[in-house]
Amino acid sequence: VRVAVIVTAAGSGTRLGREMPKALVPLDGVPVVTHALRGVLAAGVVDEVVVTIPAHSEQDFADAVALVGTDAPVPPLRCVTGGATRQASVAAGLAALGADVDVVLVHDAARALTPPEVVARVVEAVRAGAPCVIPVVPVTDSVVDVSAGVRPVDRGALRVVQTPQGFDRAVLDRAHRHAEERAADEATAATDDASLCAALGLPVAVVEGHPDGAKITTSRDLAVARMVVRDRRSQHPARPPEPPAPPVTLPEASVGPGGPR
Ligand code: C5P
Repeated sequence: VRVAVIVTAAGSGTRLGREMPKALVPLDGVPVVTHALRGVLAAGVVDEVVVTIPAHSEQDFADAVALVGTDAPVPPLRCVTGGATRQASVAAGLAALGADVDVVLVHDAARALTPPEVVARVVEAVRAGAPCVIPVVPVTDSVVDVSAGVRPVDRGALRVVQTPQGFDRAVLDRAHRHAEERAADEATAATDDASLCAALGLPVAVVEGHPDGAKITTSRDLAVARMVVRDRRSQHPARPPEPPAPPVTLPEASVGPGGPR
């Protein structure tokens, strides 16, 4: 079984109050996307990586990828230009996958600190036969529905959905093809991929997520992520020396370290 991951990193940094793409914002001195790639690769279950990036940011992302380094063998990695919405970016990532990929994970770069064991759990569930798998965490706050007055909702029945979400490749291809006309506009596009599968009537399986898999959206989220990184470092002080960076394939007409190609 060949497993690929699409890491969605083509979003802007607007809600973080940044000019640069959110995935390039430094977290403890290293870009957000670099942390996300480290976490995914540390699971040791991925054979191929596609990163969706904003237009005209090829060199910045090649630099971020060069910082990854892992203790495990590094799979082939390529960057492709994303689309106007997350759904469009995932579709672009899917189009760039090798023909022999059987299982696809879709992971938000903005979930920089997702622990490797969550990635492993998702892959295991897909390999066990689930066509669509999501990691979830319980809701800890009280929740109300305000669509018609204020109606309390039983939080015990609710879960927050994280990524990586895992799919049988043919299922994810079909779900995206079916929802293609929604992809161009933020008002209609899906915010995750499992919802596209659910719209086809496919069953969605859940595995346990992790609080560290929360998405970095606001500057407060970034501050919390910084604390998590520091806390992890204080528990595991010495990182081993980092092996060479993975080879990167940039989109056409991009500029590499040796100048224009
Ligand atoms: O904007 P939001 O935080 O919901 O984005 C979730 C993830 O999808 C982020 O990692 C972001 O970089 C990515 N994204 C993308 N293409 C877009 C919009 C968002 O790859 N057009």
